[in-house]
This record gives sequence, C-alpha cells and structure tokens, in this order.
Amino acid sequence: MAQLDHHPISLLSRNSLIFLLLVSLAILGVFLHWGRSPLFWFPNTSSSSSFPVSDWRDYSLAQAAKFAAKNETVIVCAVSYPYLPFLNNWLISVSRQKHQDKVLVIAEDYATLYKVNGKWPGHAVLIPPALDSQTEQYFGSKGFFNFTSRRPRHLLQLLELGYNVMYNDVDMVWLQDPFPYLEGSHDTYFTDDRTTIKPLNHSHDLPLPDRNGVTYICSCMIFLRPTNGAKLLMKKWIQELQDSSIDLEGNDQPAFNWALNKTAHKVDLYLLPQVAFPTGGLYFKNESWANETKGKHVIIHNNYIIGYDNKKRRFHDIGLWLVDDHALESPLGK
Ligand SMILES: *[C@@H]1O[C@H](CO)[C@@H](O)[C@H](O)[C@H]1NC(C)=O
Ligand SMILES: *[C@@H]1O[C@H](CO)[C@@H](O)[C@H](O)[C@H]1NC(C)=O
Ligand SMILES: *[C@@H]1O[C@H](CO)[C@@H](O)[C@H](O)[C@H]1NC(C)=O
Ligand SMILES: *[C@@H]1O[C@H](CO)[C@@H](O)[C@H](O)[C@H]1NC(C)=O
Ligand SMILES: *[C@@H]1O[C@H](CO)[C@@H](O)[C@H](O)[C@H]1NC(C)=O
Ligand SMILES: *[C@@H]1O[C@H](CO)[C@@H](O)[C@H](O)[C@H]1NC(C)=O
Ligand SMILES: *[C@@H]1O[C@H](CO)[C@@H](O)[C@H](O)[C@H]1NC(C)=O
Repeated sequence: MAQLDHHPISLLSRNSLIFLLLVSLAILGVFLHWGRSPLFWFPNTSSSSSFPVSDWRDYSLAQAAKFAAKNETVIVCAVSYPYLPFLNNWLISVSRQKHQDKVLVIAEDYATLYKVNGKWPGHAVLIPPALDSQTEQYFGSKGFFNFTSRRPRHLLQLLELGYNVMYNDVDMVWLQDPFPYLEGSHDTYFTDDRTTIKPLNHSHDLPLPDRNGVTYICSCMIFLRPTNGAKLLMKKWIQELQDSSIDLEGNDQPAFNWALNKTAHKVDLYLLPQVAFPTGGLYFKNESWANETKGKHVIIHNNYIIGYDNKKRRFHDIGLWLVDDHALESPLGK
C-alpha cells in the first residue's frame, strides 16, 4: 500500500490527469459513435476509417465498385442471408484463382450487408429496396417489377459507371480462371443452359431457338463490357421484365432470352464453350460426359436441382463443397 501511494500519484501531475481524462473521453466518444452498429467496429480502425461512410447503409454502388474494381473489372453476385454458405463456397473457389479482390457482393438484406462487411470491409453493398418481410408487399405492384428487374438494373448501373462486369450466381464453383476464355472484344459473354451435348468446336453465336421458339441462355453467368451494345441489352432486359404479362415468379431468365433475341443484330454476343461452362443439367446428370471432359471445366453451376439441402449435398458428393474443410481460404473465414 505504502509503495503504491508513494510514487505514482506524484508522477502524474494534475495536467497529465486532465489530459488522460480527455483522451479517455475521446476514445469513449469514438466507441459510442461506431457503437450504433456493433458489427461496424473493427479492431483495425485504419482499415475501417478508409471508407467514406460511417454506416454501410450509406455505402453507394459507385463507392463500392470503385473500392472493389481492379483493372476496371468487378465480379458481382447477389446474396440473401440463408445463402451465405454458398457465397463462402464460391468465394473460396474464386480466391484459388486469385480474383477475390474484385468481388462485390450485392447484399439483398441488411443482415448480409453487415455480416460480409464486418468480416471483409467494403466488399458488400445494399441497393434498396432490401429483401425482407416488407418486400412481400411488392408482389403484384409496380414496385415488384423493380425488384424482379434488380439484376439487370444493377448490372446496367455498373456499366454506366464504366466497369467490366462479371456476374455469377453463388451456386457456382470456379475450377479454373474464366477470364482467359473471354476472348476478343465482344459486348457480352454468356452460357447455354441446354443439356444437349455440343461438339467441342461449336459456334459462339447465339443458338437458334428450339421448336418452341425459345433459347435457354443462362442468366446465371454473364460477362459484360461497358459498351453501348451491352447497355442496350440490359435496358432491353429491364423492359422485357416490365412488359412481361406472364408470371415469371422472380425468374428473370426468359426475359433475358427475349432481350438477346430482340437485340441480336445490334449487340456483339459471344456464347462461351459448353465444355468449359457446362450447365448443371449436363455436368451432374451425365457422369460419363463429365469424366470424358475432365480437366476442361472452368465454372460448374449447381442448377437443374431444387432445394437448398439437395444443392449442398450434390456439391458435397462431388467434392465441391469447400466450406467445411477450406473455410480459411475464404476472405470471410468460417
Ligand atoms: C490495418 O489495415 C491496413 C489497411 O488494410 C493494413 O495495411 C495494416 O497492416 C492493418 N494493420 C493491422 C495491425 O492489422
Ligand atoms: C486487365 O484486363 C485485360 C483485358 O480487359 C487483360 O488483358 C489484362 O491481362 C488484365 N490485367 C491484369 C493485371 O489483370
Ligand atoms: C422503379 O425504378 C425506377 C428506376 O430505378 C424508379 O425511377 C422508379 O421510381 C421505381 N418505381 C418504384 C415503384 O419503385
Ligand atoms: C467442327 O468440326 C467438324 C469435324 O472436324 C467439322 O465438320 C465442322 O464443320 C466443325 N464445325 C464448326 C462450327 O467449325
Ligand atoms: C428470335 O426469335 C424468333 C422466334 O422464335 C426466331 O424466329 C428468330 O430466329 C430469333 N432471332 C434470333 C436472332 O435468334
Ligand atoms: C467416372 O469416373 C469415376 C472416377 O474415375 C469412376 O468411378 C466412374 O465409374 C466413372 N463413371 C462413368 C459413368 O464412367
Ligand atoms: C452422356 O454423355 C455421353 C458422352 O460422354 C453420350 O454419349 C451420351 O449420349 C450422354 N447421355 C445422355 C443421356 O445424354
């Protein structure tokens, strides 16, 4: 006791006590400010303070794209909270190809926005309206069309900002780097969702419509350059969604195909090779085809299956459910 009473007090002059008090108040102030949203507090304050907003709600698509873009290119996906494990799985595969820095996650709800940016600051953005119970009010209203057409609207906005955009659904896994396959300087690149096996040297033109007069281009993976042609295609897609009289139930793929058909003579289109970008309806359903073409696959799409658990099991069974054993390779961690 005597020892403690003796030295410290006399060392701390009245002025330094006041100084310490002020510093404490300042620190407390910072904590209270950031504390409005607990997820928003990072141990590394220098990385958080390098963002132009104090709440991720105010983070705009322009700010987010500027942050994420490398080589004028962004890789975007759109995710709601239940699909975070699929986002993580996809991100591990993207990281293995060293393209994760360009990823921008379009969060469909606030939980996803705060979760992703909490673990990986700056890589998620939310463009209102958010997906929540209120969104159900939009069904059947004019606003709902805006919600269904959010994918082409977000892609168009990124093109207007001048970026190349690679869009992916998150039920995909990259096995190789897709960028070398984006040959030439076409406006847009996409994949066929039809399961019919094509010759290796198939045409890169838009496929002919089938007997029903329709094509099955997938809206799941699209690469766009910021050209007038690509912007025209996105505008047509939005218009087709808004004009559509049939109930699309949130499925924007038929409208994408109508837009491709109607703009085909004005837009420079490029169909990617089937063997490199196979539909899940071929890759998962014809094992002998998958065996014969092994080593040629670039992105695998886990479609042609219904249900979250079934999708997850199918990835797991084929060794592409990476999140259990390789979570540390993801920028989001566990
Ligand atoms: C904080 O973040 C900055 C920028 O991301 C980084 O350069 C720095 O190394 C980080 N510091 C620590 C202690 O993690
Ligand atoms: C940047 O993109 C161009 C094509 O748009 C590509 O040829 C080039 O290799 C890329 N550079 C880097 C560093 O990724
Ligand atoms: C739909 O989107 C357009 C363009 O973004 C906007 O001007 C309009 O107000 C939106 N309508 C509704 C009902 O949200
Ligand atoms: C693909 O190759 C076959 C046989 O080698 C040839 O007959 C066919 O014309 C080629 N198709 C295209 C689109 O180049
Ligand atoms: C567009 O669709 C119509 C009707 O199915 C078809 O006749 C036409 O060939 C298609 N055009 C292109 C460029 O695919
Ligand atoms: C595909 O390859 C796997 C592993 O090599 C083998 O077990 C399986 O029998 C093959 N399936 C077919 C249909 O060829
Ligand atoms: C599966 O793929 C093989 C080629 O590997 C093909 O000969 C066969 O017709 C395909 N089966 C079906 C049902 O499409």
